[in-house]
Amino acid sequence: MLRLTMRKVKKEVVELVESVKPKRKRQKTRGKDEEPMRTVSLSTYHTFRDPADIADLQTHLLSWYDLEKRELPWRTLALTEADVNTRTYAVWVSEIMLQQTQVATVIDYYNKWMKRWPTVSDLAAATLEEVNQMWAGLGYYSRGKRLHEGAQKVLSKLDGQMPVTVDGLLRQLPGVGRYTAAAIGSIALGHVTGAVDGNVIRVLCRMRAIGADCTSPIVTEALWGLANTLVDSERPGDFNQAMMELGARICTPKAPLCNQCPVRSYCHSYRKVHVKQEKTSRKLLGKKDGKPPVLPDIEDCRTDGICPLCLSEPWDEELGVQNFPRKPAKKPPRVERTLTCVVTRDGEEGEEEFLLTQRPKKGLLAGLWEFPSRLLEEGMSEKEHKGALCADLSSLLGVQVIDSSLKYVGDVVHVFSHIHQTYIVHTLCLRDADTQTENTQWLSRSALHDAAVSTGVKKIVKLCDSVGLQTAHTSTDGKRRKSGEKKDAKKRQRGAKKTTNSMKKQMSLTSFFRTTTQEP
Ligand code: ADE
Repeated sequence: MLRLTMRKVKKEVVELVESVKPKRKRQKTRGKDEEPMRTVSLSTYHTFRDPADIADLQTHLLSWYDLEKRELPWRTLALTEADVNTRTYAVWVSEIMLQQTQVATVIDYYNKWMKRWPTVSDLAAATLEEVNQMWAGLGYYSRGKRLHEGAQKVLSKLDGQMPVTVDGLLRQLPGVGRYTAAAIGSIALGHVTGAVDGNVIRVLCRMRAIGADCTSPIVTEALWGLANTLVDSERPGDFNQAMMELGARICTPKAPLCNQCPVRSYCHSYRKVHVKQEKTSRKLLGKKDGKPPVLPDIEDCRTDGICPLCLSEPWDEELGVQNFPRKPAKKPPRVERTLTCVVTRDGEEGEEEFLLTQRPKKGLLAGLWEFPSRLLEEGMSEKEHKGALCADLSSLLGVQVIDSSLKYVGDVVHVFSHIHQTYIVHTLCLRDADTQTENTQWLSRSALHDAAVSTGVKKIVKLCDSVGLQTAHTSTDGKRRKSGEKKDAKKRQRGAKKTTNSMKKQMSLTSFFRTTTQEP
C-alpha cells in the first residue's frame, strides 16, 4: 500500500474575523477594476476554536472511515497506483464521473473506462465518438468531452504530464473547478486542502448550524474555511473522502442516521435536537429532581439576528437536523415538447435498422445521436410541426413522407437538470430506405445499444419495444404494406441488394467515424 508522507501543518483556528472573497470563477490576481475583499465578522459558533477538538474529530472520523468505507475502484487505484501521473489521471476521471452522478452508477462506467484507457495518453488517442459511446447513459455529456479535451491538452501542451498542484489542476484542466482540483490534489497527490462538495456542504452546515443560503458566497467561503481548518494533514485525501462518505451514508439529506454518526458530539444541530428532546421528556416525566440535564444547553450564536451564517428562517422543530443546509428555491425546469420519429428499415439478414441523426457539435447533448426530431415551438400547431417533421424526413430519405405514414406510439418524459422534456414518439417503418449523409447513420439494434446516444433515446426504444414496433411497413413510395407481405418482398430484394447494402453500410459507418474524429 502506498503511503504518502505529509508535513504536519499547524492548524490555524479561525477566530472572529474572516475574509470573504466575492464569488468569482477561476479568480486570478485581482485586477484594478475588481471589488476589494470584504471583511465580515463571523461568530466562532460556526467555526472550530480548539485544536484539541479538531484532532479528536479527525481521529473519530478517520477511524470510522477505516472501518466502514466502501471499497471503490478509484479508491483502490489512488492507494495502489505507484505512478503519480497515472494516479492523478485515475482520480481525475473518477471525480469527473462523480460530478452529479451517484457512486453506484459510476462504478461500472469507471471500470470499463480505466480498462480501455488506463493512462492519460490512451485517452488522448481516443476519438470523441468513442468517448461519447463510453459515456452513453451517464448523463451530462459535456463531462466526457472535457475529459477528452483535457487529456489531449496534457499530451500536446504539458508533455504528457498531469498537473501536480491544486492550482495547476484548476487552471490547466477543462471542467475542473475548485472542488475537483482540491479532491484530486488531496486524494492523488496528498496536498493538504479541504474539499467541499454537496455532501460536505450538508455535513458542515449541520455540524456548525449554518442556515443561511448555502450557495451564497459568504457561506461558500465559510465552508471552505472550515474544510481547510478540519482537514487532516497526514491523511488529507482520506479525510476528504471520509467527509464525503459521512454525507453519503450517515448525514444523508433525508432520514439521517445521527445515532451512528462518529462525530455527533461536534454537531450543533444534533445537540439542538437532543437537548430539546431531553427537555421535553424531562417535562413529561415531571422531573424536578434538581439534577442538571445530561446534555449541556444549546450554545447559540451570540450574534444571532445579524449573523450572516445563521438560519434566515426560524428553526422548524419537525425538520430537526434537516433544518440545515438551506438552499434557495430551485428554478422550475423549462418545459419542452419534441416530436420524434423512429424510422426503421429492413437491413441485411432481415435485421431491423434504425435511422439516427447527429446533434450539433455544441450545446445540449452535443454530438450525440438521436432519432430525427423537431422541437415544438410556440405559434405552430402540432399538426404543422408534424408536417415540418415529414418534410425533414423527406429530405433525409430522399422520398416523400406524408403525415399519415407516421404512427403515434406514445410519449416519453425525460427530465434533464434544467429541462422537462416530453418526446412525442412516432414510428415510420420502411422496407427499403437508403440515406447516406454525414450526419445520419443506420444502426442495427446491437449497434444502437452501444452507440453514443442519450438516455432519452434509450427510453424511446423501450417504449417502441413495449408496443411492438413493426406492425406494418411502408415502402418509400409512401404506400403501407401489411406485415405478411414483408418477408416475400424482402426475400425478393435481398439477393440483389446484399452486396451494395454491405458496401453502403460500411460507407455509412466509415463516414460516422470520419465525422467525429474531426471534432475539436
Ligand atoms: N464523490 C466525489 N468524490 C468521491 C470519492 N472519492 N468517493 C466517494 N464519493 C465521492
